[in-house]
Amino acid sequence: MDQKYDHTNQILSLLENKESINSLQITQETNTNHQELVGYLLQLEASNYITTEGLKKDQLVLTEEGNTILNSQSGEYEIYQKVPEGGISMADLQKQFGIEQAPKQKQEQGEKKEKQPEDPKKKLFDLGFGNAKKMGYIKMEKGMINKVANDLPDKIKQELQQFNEIKLGSPQAKLLIERKLASISTIKYFEVKKGVKYSPKFREQFAALTTEQLLNGEWKDCDYKSINLNAEGEKISMGNLHPLLKVRKQFSQILIGLGFEEMATNQFVESSFWNFDALFQPQKHPARDAHDTFFCNDPELSEEVDTQLRDKVKSMHQTGGVGSIGYQYEWSHEEARKNILRTHTTAVSSKMLYRIAQQYKEKGYFPKKYFSIDKVFRNETLDATHLAEFHQIEGVVIDKNASLGQLMGIIREFFRQIGINKLWFKPTYNPYTEPSMEIYGYHPILKKKVEIGNSGVFRPEMLAPLGIPEDVNVIAWGLGLERPTMIYYDIRDIRTMVGPEVKVETVRSNAFCVFESK
Ligand code: PHE
Repeated sequence: MDQKYDHTNQILSLLENKESINSLQITQETNTNHQELVGYLLQLEASNYITTEGLKKDQLVLTEEGNTILNSQSGEYEIYQKVPEGGISMADLQKQFGIEQAPKQKQEQGEKKEKQPEDPKKKLFDLGFGNAKKMGYIKMEKGMINKVANDLPDKIKQELQQFNEIKLGSPQAKLLIERKLASISTIKYFEVKKGVKYSPKFREQFAALTTEQLLNGEWKDCDYKSINLNAEGEKISMGNLHPLLKVRKQFSQILIGLGFEEMATNQFVESSFWNFDALFQPQKHPARDAHDTFFCNDPELSEEVDTQLRDKVKSMHQTGGVGSIGYQYEWSHEEARKNILRTHTTAVSSKMLYRIAQQYKEKGYFPKKYFSIDKVFRNETLDATHLAEFHQIEGVVIDKNASLGQLMGIIREFFRQIGINKLWFKPTYNPYTEPSMEIYGYHPILKKKVEIGNSGVFRPEMLAPLGIPEDVNVIAWGLGLERPTMIYYDIRDIRTMVGPEVKVETVRSNAFCVFESK
């Protein structure tokens, strides 16, 4: 155990009789490199044995070239040494450095002279030669190069040998920097002082008090680590809600807040009767085509509905009632029994309205607000904004006093709570509502007007066969769940929300959905 703390103890003992010591001094005295030392210092500081303060200073350091000269000689000195007694011509001197004399180039008229690439040996020679003259090693006399004196020392090398004594900012330092033999680099180091728990010997700090330590009494001599209240907790790996579920949760919270109750939507396969016929949607309606609706093979037909109800719906379609002439066609019982994947959550609403009407028979009238959020299916071509299965949010209000004005009011409040407060209503057509309105809103994230829903007052032709009394009105609106989710989580392609395309990491990291209400 002691050996493990050799370095730490060395540092602590260096500090024993001193007010402070810096980390550069410590590296020299303990023969550790600075990076390794920082590790020990951090450990000691975490245990409150020492405190450290980060410092910075500029230092003169040798460049690669400076190091090369220090280990051999300077360029100018090499040239100086090659100049013989009695002098030498430039061409001969250059030859000694392996520089070939370039042959005179023929230059024909009108022909451009091609630039020869510079010989690196020549470049180096020129530099050394210039310095040799500047430093007073050589001189030119009658076209010949001569030594100025014999036995001159290599001054630059000598200076580099004294490098540690050269002060930053001194003329010598400036010269070395100018010649790129040295440069200034900023080094970071620490001022180290005794900490509150300082002791010249390091005692291991335990992270936890153990049963053994308690039983054998060791705890009395143990040091324990203080609790780091700023430490980040370990990431918990757990299940996370899919973005659609996060947004769905928020929508249901808003609707519950507005007094709506959730309907059971756990039936993807529905009979055409509840999805279309009960909604006064004629059997020849294009939405009932196989191009738009998924039909089931097995079982192909659903069970019978109550025959009374069936006959009322049939006659409403064929001949009308409640002031309407109906659609004037032969209604097929078989067509209504065809099983399909529900194409809208209004199928859930129609079934619920029938159930409410049954209850009215026993209990009498009561108002009710319902909502549903669940999956629906349409035979769509898949692209970035369309899937064959998606979700709808639907709200339904059953009330004697329900009116178009009330519907608009509820829709306004509902969208206000998801952050959309500028709305437009545009008349449209639905087989089951009259009047019907498309809902448009100014989207605060997209910063433009977008279609956000559909709505209307359920027709008497739909309500009467279900048994809803004539003086009870039903208003409803619906919207998709995918689009608000895509906007909220900035998802560009709807296909990345389902199946193997879902990025589990994004599902994990996405925050809860909380709409900013206006
Ligand atoms: N069912 C409609 C749709 O699928 C939405 C809607 C619901 C319209 C309720 C009016 C009333 O788009």
